[in-house]
Order: sequence, then structure tokens, then C-alpha cells
Amino acid sequence: MGWLAAALFRRVQGAGFYEDLHRRAVSLLPPGQGAHWLDVGCGPGLLARLAVARGYTVTAVDRDPAMIVAAERTPRNHADGLSFRVSSLEMLTVSPLRGAVVSAGSLLAVMDDRRQGLGHLLTLLHPGGTLLLVEPTAEMTLRRAWRWLHRQGLRRMRGRGWLLLWAATRQPGRAVDHAGLMQALPEGGDWQVTGTPLLGGMVTVWQISAGGEP
Ligand SMILES: C[S@@+](CC[C@H](N)C(=O)[O-])C[C@H]1O[C@@H](n2cnc3c(N)ncnc32)[C@H](O)[C@@H]1O
Repeated sequence: MGWLAAALFRRVQGAGFYEDLHRRAVSLLPPGQGAHWLDVGCGPGLLARLAVARGYTVTAVDRDPAMIVAAERTPRNHADGLSFRVSSLEMLTVSPLRGAVVSAGSLLAVMDDRRQGLGHLLTLLHPGGTLLLVEPTAEMTLRRAWRWLHRQGLRRMRGRGWLLLWAATRQPGRAVDHAGLMQALPEGGDWQVTGTPLLGGMVTVWQISAGGEP
């Protein structure tokens, strides 16, 4: 996407509502105690940084070198146990990198082949691991975002304009819902899927793991 997109995402990730949303998403998982977390499509690194704060050792990748430069230039990302690298989801599947947690924020929303993308993400999990997806829902509309901001006390919200921009530019046909997710999961698996609505239902955090004994 390039330098412009990286600069834009850096601002979005600095918005109060966006950081709060991702902090809540990360807090759905148990403390890491050093376990490896792999964040795919990390952008400027917010989710990765929050995962480190939760006690994980994190490798965060993005296929766009400009995103990785933005991540590395963000002073708050300079933490022990956090590393960034340029790589794509597709390249990861043929690398030895795996995670007890694999995460992807707003990645499925930009992928043309969601089924293949999900399949790839799941192959990156250690046995018994959890895939964490943070995805906007069909509920994210400009009207709803505006109402939500009012309910929160519009004036107090740092970076509120970025939520309106997100809602205005979201492509409705790309929203992830439970039925679509179940359809896109690889067949024959005993998938455990939990969806937690956040941001007034405009975003769902999905936790997916393989059923049965780890
Ligand atoms: C919508 S942005 C989300 C960034 C960040 N995860 C967040 O939630 O703020 C999607 C990111 O995924 C990256 N991306 C898209 N397809 C990818 C792929 N196949 N492998 C790795 N990264 C990818 C893009 O470069 C972009 O940085």
C-alpha cells in the first residue's frame, strides 16, 4: 500500500478508540508468560505491542515494507520480545514460524480469497493455539459510528475522526459474520469459534481454535 497508507495507519492506530479496542481484544486471551504470538498484517504494530504488554514474545509481519518501517519508527514499539519483519502470510506458511496465538487485525477484510487466507492463518498455529481475528462487522456504518461517539461523549474521544473515516470507507460486502466465517473455515475441522462484539457491535473479535485435545 505504500508510505501514504503507512502514515495513515499510524495515525489510526494512535486514536484512543482504536487502541482501546485492540487492548480489549488482547485481554480476551490469557497472559502470555513468554509464549510466541505471531501477528500477520501488523501495519504499524499496535496489536503486536499490546500482545507484548500481555506477556507474549511477538513476531509481527507485514508484506508492505512501508508498514514495517512505520512500526520500527514508532518509539512505543521498542520493547523487549517484539520484532518486526517484512513477510507475507503466504511466505509464512512455508517458514518455520508458528504461534501459540496467531492474530490478524482487519486482514480478512482486505483479502480477496478469505477461505485461503483463513486456511493459511490456521496452519500457523501451534497445536492447541488460538487464532484471534479483529474484524469490522456489517454494523459499522457512518450513522452508527456517529451515534456511538455521541454516547461515549464525543468531545472526550481522542482521534474520533478516524472512526468516522473507517466507517465511511469500510466496504460493506467485506464484513465478516459468523455464517461467512464458518463457511470459510477448512472443512472437516472441529472448530471452536467465539465472537466477542466490541465498539458497540461494529467490530467482532473472533477466537478460533481446533476442537479436541491439544
Ligand atoms: C487494513 S490493514 C490493518 C493493519 C493492522 N493489522 C490494524 O488492524 O490496524 C491490513 C494490513 O495487512 C497487510 N497485508 C495485506 N495482505 C497481506 C498478506 N497477504 N500478508 C501479510 N500482510 C498483508 C497490509 O499491508 C496492511 O498493512
